[in-house]
Amino acid sequence: MLFGDVSEELARRVMAALRHVIDIEPPSAVVRVSSRAGVDYQCDLAMNLGKQLGRAPREIAAGIAARLDVADLAEPPEVAGPGFLNFTLRSSWLEDRATALDGDPRLGAAVTPWPRRIAIDYSGPNAAKEMHVGHLRPTVIGDAIARLLRFAGHDVIPHNHLGDWGTPFGMLIERLLDERPSAPHTIRDLNGFYQAARSRFENDEDFATRSRARVVLLQSGDQETLSLWRQLVDESTRHFTQVYELLGIGLSSGDVYGESFYNPFLAAVVDDLTNAGLTAISDGAVCVFPDGFLNREGEPLPLIVRKRDGGYGYAATDLATLRYWTEQREVTDLLYVVGAPQAQHFAMVFAVCRAAGWLREGQRAEHIGFGSVLGEDGHAMKTRAGELVRLSDLLAEAVSQAAEVIDGRDDLSPEVREEVAEAIGIGALKYADLSGDRGRDYVFSWERMLAKNGNTSVYLQYANARIRSVLARADQDLAGVRVLLGHPAERALALALIRFPEAVGAATAGYLPHKLCTYLYETAVVFSRFYEQCPVLDAESPGVRDSRLLLAELTSKTLTLGLSLLGISTPDRL
Ligand code: ARG
Repeated sequence: MLFGDVSEELARRVMAALRHVIDIEPPSAVVRVSSRAGVDYQCDLAMNLGKQLGRAPREIAAGIAARLDVADLAEPPEVAGPGFLNFTLRSSWLEDRATALDGDPRLGAAVTPWPRRIAIDYSGPNAAKEMHVGHLRPTVIGDAIARLLRFAGHDVIPHNHLGDWGTPFGMLIERLLDERPSAPHTIRDLNGFYQAARSRFENDEDFATRSRARVVLLQSGDQETLSLWRQLVDESTRHFTQVYELLGIGLSSGDVYGESFYNPFLAAVVDDLTNAGLTAISDGAVCVFPDGFLNREGEPLPLIVRKRDGGYGYAATDLATLRYWTEQREVTDLLYVVGAPQAQHFAMVFAVCRAAGWLREGQRAEHIGFGSVLGEDGHAMKTRAGELVRLSDLLAEAVSQAAEVIDGRDDLSPEVREEVAEAIGIGALKYADLSGDRGRDYVFSWERMLAKNGNTSVYLQYANARIRSVLARADQDLAGVRVLLGHPAERALALALIRFPEAVGAATAGYLPHKLCTYLYETAVVFSRFYEQCPVLDAESPGVRDSRLLLAELTSKTLTLGLSLLGISTPDRL
């Protein structure tokens, strides 16, 4: 039985046929899922080739069709319109394939033949501040991408680039020393503490000077300074870990590689860049001017490696970070799930690392950007007091709103209700973040994310729970059952089910979790059409009933596995 991606398989066959039709090196063919009725897949290669070679596209398409060997899986391909090649899968093949999904925990998705070692940097909150709504996206999107890559068979190393170093700590520690609080601060009062320190830093020149000197002491390893710093970072890490646990994020305190971790490597970064002749002094600071980066006036843009006061900043740390992961951890890929405004920062860091030889041939670095979460007024989401909404408040609110969704379900025990409310609330929050194209901003709306209809996790969780209750009612062993496709709605469902590998592949290859969301939603819709049109428990014959139960079970497995790759759980009962 052939597994994996059907569109890729068809594309391979098109390429093989193409060699007999044209005498240039064939360009790679792309075969796409078709939305036209009666057509399962479509290829438009002949149109592009026609233009390139000055030949009639339909004639090229017909040439390919004549040579194409797809009889094992598809009907003879048709040439349509200006030169499309249309494919329709053979029903018996579809039946075999859907039946075979049952024994495969990966539902047909292949493991990559080219595993890579991938360091993925995500979440990255700043210590001594509570996580706010802005941290939701890098955390949730990063976690889904890490899961997808791991599922594909890569060696994935998540790391959390905690903002635990630099200027803010100078002022925080200086304030701690001024205050000498009797008990250590909790994260809640650290928020206020941070704001007080910042405003003093901005308004009190003497305090600002002491704070800057304190940063230098911190970076040079002064004991008293370090122990105060530790207090602040430990309390913050406790808070982050709690939030991750509640959110179901696969980051632990062991994955923290904060900015401080790279401090011992910073001096060598400057020295090696300088020895390689890559640095220049500008305004007293050591800078690199990577090729091709200009400001609006057309002047070269600097990446500051060491500041005038001898301190190191965010950019120096990212240079040391990349170098650490490629040289000491020997990763092949570095992914950074960080907001879109940092695109230029990363492009410059990558350029400097390439020039320095820290990012070599065959190693890839990629910034995976995303848009912002906006309030319903279209601006950054703030509380009434004008602060960014705290993430822990948001999570609590999600769970309590979800509890209202299942209100009235007296058949569920209080413990089950709490579990379910958590699964629905946290799921909704994550899914809302994942289901749109990550590059765009999205408007936060409880009403939309908790809607029982539409492309929401609640809809998918309900669909799945409903299927499981049908299966429980049938209470039947489906081993050895064969999928039969008599009704068009059955065929449509089988076709959706065998496309799981394509959806997962597309979501993984482009780091685009929304592609998996769209697929899961469409599959659930196709299932509900099937369920309306094809009686399951009261099917016309035992064979048809078994087949429909199996289709239902495969749908539930698809939704469950798909949502788990997005970090969303699927309660049995809702
Ligand atoms: N702490 C940073 C911020 O809040 C994000 C860190 C992203 N990762 C990195 N390697 N720079 O903007």
